[in-house]
Amino acid sequence: MDHKRQIYRNRRVALLKHMRATTGGGLALIPTAPEVARNRDSHFPYRHDSYFYYVSGFPEPEAVVALVAAEDGDRHLLFCREKNPEREVWDGFRYGPDAAREVFGFDAAHPLGEMDSVLADLCCDRPALYTPLGLLPAWDRKVTDLINEVRGRARTGVAPPEHIVDVRQSLDAMRLVKDAHEQALMRRAAGISSAAHRRAMATTRPGWFEYQVEAELAHEFLRSGAQAVAYPSIVAGGPNACVLHYRDNSRQLQDGELLLIDAGCEYQGYASDITRTFPVNGRFSAPQKDVYELVLAAQAACIAAIQPGGEFHDYHRAAERVLAQGFIDLGLCQGTLDEVLESGSYKQFYMHRAGHWLGMDVHDAGLYQTRGESIRLSPGMVLTVEPGAYIRPADNVPEAFWNIGVRIEDDLLVTVSGSENLTQATPRTVAAVEEACRRD
Ligand code: GLY
Ligand code: MN
Ligand code: MN
Repeated sequence: MDHKRQIYRNRRVALLKHMRATTGGGLALIPTAPEVARNRDSHFPYRHDSYFYYVSGFPEPEAVVALVAAEDGDRHLLFCREKNPEREVWDGFRYGPDAAREVFGFDAAHPLGEMDSVLADLCCDRPALYTPLGLLPAWDRKVTDLINEVRGRARTGVAPPEHIVDVRQSLDAMRLVKDAHEQALMRRAAGISSAAHRRAMATTRPGWFEYQVEAELAHEFLRSGAQAVAYPSIVAGGPNACVLHYRDNSRQLQDGELLLIDAGCEYQGYASDITRTFPVNGRFSAPQKDVYELVLAAQAACIAAIQPGGEFHDYHRAAERVLAQGFIDLGLCQGTLDEVLESGSYKQFYMHRAGHWLGMDVHDAGLYQTRGESIRLSPGMVLTVEPGAYIRPADNVPEAFWNIGVRIEDDLLVTVSGSENLTQATPRTVAAVEEACRRD
């Protein structure tokens, strides 16, 4: 069995093992995402469901993975579209059940049209049904119909599953720790996105519009083999840098402003997530540099706080301390460090968390805390480190700092000894950023 097919099969085996350990086995049903119409006959670019893809590697819409953990052994089943020569002329290749079974390592594959009757049989007398709950209304409906169908057969001597479990909780824990295959894909995604940020620094000029910079990013993503953006690119000049999820990308960039770019590609199903902030004219002003150096120091403190065995929340606390002290030193916050942390006055300028899990989804699967306890970091977890400072015009703020917004975001893989910065190739220090912006 080829390497890639074995990777997805191994994940299904791990899920089946988990099902046996927690409920004595059962049936898992994992549907992929539906296609979504954009207007009339046009659809949004198709994106599979991450959970489905994690256990299948199968890229087509209209498909469901079914896994059975039973006394007579495990079974890996796929339901998918049939081959359709006429539709394939219009929309392109479809695997069809036979090729899909072979290529993706399933024991059997069936046309989607057979799913309802096969599933009703599969669902009888299982200790548990593992499936996403509350994710897709049409799927929720199918699941309740399925259970009712089995319930309706009670007089034939069968019973519906005793437990219904949200399979996402089981898969979240697996997805949180990235295997070697995932780490390699994330390194590639990170590398492409780093190149895109370098391209943006090298090309941006005063007078450009934010959307022109967005086009440079998209160019680099697509020419390097990325399939999509992992999230809509934020290209935020001047005051827009203080809007955390700015999306318009329509401003004309002015000489003397900063440009904040939060952009990352998706490569073979895996996200990257990088933010850099640089001067539109290539040189930081003194107040811009002060704020930039502060955020950079906060990020260094965060990275030092990322250690296997440590709490996830440690690096957010590190960011808060460095930023709060810096805001005091710049005259933006008043009081001692403890007073500023206690009152939360620093949140006028830093109001988000220092990062999140990263993987197939940009805000990836996985809990941050269970029963009041922070998750502890372990090798293979990937997270972003993204402190920032956002200084909007206000009466209590010296005018020299108005509209300075800075965020510096990298993607880190937790290792046995600390972390590996997957986005290291993106210029980060003041000197490196100014060098990358050189206009000659
Ligand atoms: N790009 C989204 C985020 O940084 O969380
Ligand atoms: Mn992020
Ligand atoms: Mn980001």
